[in-house]
Amino acid sequence: MKVLALNGSPRMKASSTYHMLTPILEGMEAAGAETELIHVRKLDLEACIGCYTCWVRTPGECIHKDKDSMVGAMESYNTADLVIFGTPLYHFSMSGIMKTFIDRTLPRYEPWLVPHASAPNMTGHPERYHYPKKTLLVSPCGFPEFENFEALVHTFKFMAEMENIEYVGEILRPAAEALSRRSLQGLFTSYYDTLRQAGEEIIRENSISEKTQAELRKDLFPGGKQAFYDMAGAYWEQQMDRFKEVQRNKTSQNIMT
Ligand SMILES: Cc1cc2nc3c(=O)[nH]c(=O)nc-3n(C[C@H](O)[C@H](O)[C@H](O)COP(=O)(O)O)c2cc1C
Repeated sequence: MKVLALNGSPRMKASSTYHMLTPILEGMEAAGAETELIHVRKLDLEACIGCYTCWVRTPGECIHKDKDSMVGAMESYNTADLVIFGTPLYHFSMSGIMKTFIDRTLPRYEPWLVPHASAPNMTGHPERYHYPKKTLLVSPCGFPEFENFEALVHTFKFMAEMENIEYVGEILRPAAEALSRRSLQGLFTSYYDTLRQAGEEIIRENSISEKTQAELRKDLFPGGKQAFYDMAGAYWEQQMDRFKEVQRNKTSQNIMT
């Protein structure tokens, strides 16, 4: 099975999304999958301008095709059996670059309006290529509640249904900002092991077992919400203090020169 993981975090390797995707892909490889990871930001994508050139003038080809790296990414996208959409939660939805990527998949469709292939009473467009067949959503967020992901999950589920793609499920991680910190990686080894397990199960069973799902939903930090607020507050305060110190040093250097 060919798996394509899209990392939609603008922070690329320094991101919680990347730190979630990596063990999932390791687990998938252990189960025999062939995997590829694309950092969406590296594609330097132009936004879709809605010109429909890809439908009318050059069917299947985007007007931006020579300006960025979407053509190569689309080849991977069109031929993957499973696409993992990895995106941080931004304002209760996906990151801007992930949305830009998805908008740029428009050349996959033909302009005609037809009754939807599988959703009764809905309308669709014929597809030029029917790949990928399955999709998985992976997303971290800053707030500590799973409810924050409601709109995002709905979006990806609905999109999969409308695009005739099987929605395999989602792996969501609230209170995830700390996953992006290199110095804290040692705290999360057991969480990463569970992500590896989930990756293996998806390839072997096409789903994540209830046991693994329950493990994945466990809090990363003990002590409940207030303890989490205090810890996060202390972190941001420390960051601001560091910045103030840099500013102070710059000012005193300026005075001395
Ligand atoms: C522009 C922006 C919007 C965000 N919006 C939300 C949000 O709506 N809910 C939330 O819980 N976290 C939000 N966050 C926090 C990120 O989801 C969180 O820090 C996540 O771990 C970042 O993932 P990354 O390291 O993979 O980029 C936002 C962060 C940014 C930069």
